[in-house]
Amino acid sequence: MTHRREFLKATTAGLFGISLLPVRNKLRLKVQRQVKPLVISTWDFGIQANAAAWAILQNGGRALDAVEAGVRVPEADPNIQTIGLGGLPDRDGHVTLDACIMDEHGNAGAVACLEHIVHAISVARKVMEKTPHVMLVGEGALQFALSQGFPKQNLLTPSSEKAWKEWLKTAHYHPVINIENQLSPAHHDSTYSSHHPGDSFNHDTIGMLAIDQQGNLSGACTTSGLAFKMHGRVGDSPIIGAGLFVDNEVGAATATGVGEANMRICGTHTVVELMRQGHHPEEACRLALERLVKKQPDYARSIQLAFLAVDKNGTIGAYALQKGFTYAVYTPDIPNRLMESKSIY
Ligand code: GLY
Repeated sequence: MTHRREFLKATTAGLFGISLLPVRNKLRLKVQRQVKPLVISTWDFGIQANAAAWAILQNGGRALDAVEAGVRVPEADPNIQTIGLGGLPDRDGHVTLDACIMDEHGNAGAVACLEHIVHAISVARKVMEKTPHVMLVGEGALQFALSQGFPKQNLLTPSSEKAWKEWLKTAHYHPVINIENQLSPAHHDSTYSSHHPGDSFNHDTIGMLAIDQQGNLSGACTTSGLAFKMHGRVGDSPIIGAGLFVDNEVGAATATGVGEANMRICGTHTVVELMRQGHHPEEACRLALERLVKKQPDYARSIQLAFLAVDKNGTIGAYALQKGFTYAVYTPDIPNRLMESKSIY
């Protein structure tokens, strides 16, 4: 009877994962149900972004369409000063956006240092679908976006301009943990200060990962980057393997926090490779962070960097250097809930 029940579970489940585990010299059938559809994204604003993605996923839409639609929500929100419209500018007053997208076939597109276009993620998708390249930057990215019909507009909102002019009074630069892309108070000197869930602005880059009803994965990542950065600075978010990596056979990962730290460890590629070796997504995120901690402990203690990952079965994991990293989860069993990740410090 037991065998029959297990067999029925496996066959009626269709796409459920099945593995044979050796237990005391006998083989035991382990049936792992694939959670789908599913969407997860970084920070509190992931809740609104997930809702837009879910509308596509629940109607049988493609994960790629879902992640693009999802991250367009914070991109268009002028009150979010870390992404798209209203993003804080660089130190010369330019709002420059970084974004990338990756699909279930391993196709990828990215833009970096893109000005005047709200939906950097959609330009990244056009790079993926309409050009032989993976990444366009700066003026070339803008020209391409305009050729594709994206409207040109001023992304510097009055409140972001005011924050920039306030910052210029001292031009003191020190990213604040959990709000790296946010205003760095001019007089802020505490290396270890942090903000926590419930603070009105504990957010930064949005990274989103989804599994559709066909069981396919895609991801998107978009940001205005570190506030008051040097003009021309590009962070981790548009870099495939740093801000985002998707392997449809294994899983996907995305990142938020100080891009320079992430680029040094090819963070999301590392997380996916660790999942390929059999690590749980949460453990894979922690092990990737530990590479940075081991090499540069003082630096790692002074910044935030966080990973969010999902494996092919829909098992979710996250880990951060510092407390305060939140992420939003939407599955058939979890109707869009905010979670806080574990942290090393
Ligand atoms: N993770 C955002 C950035 O460093 O630009």
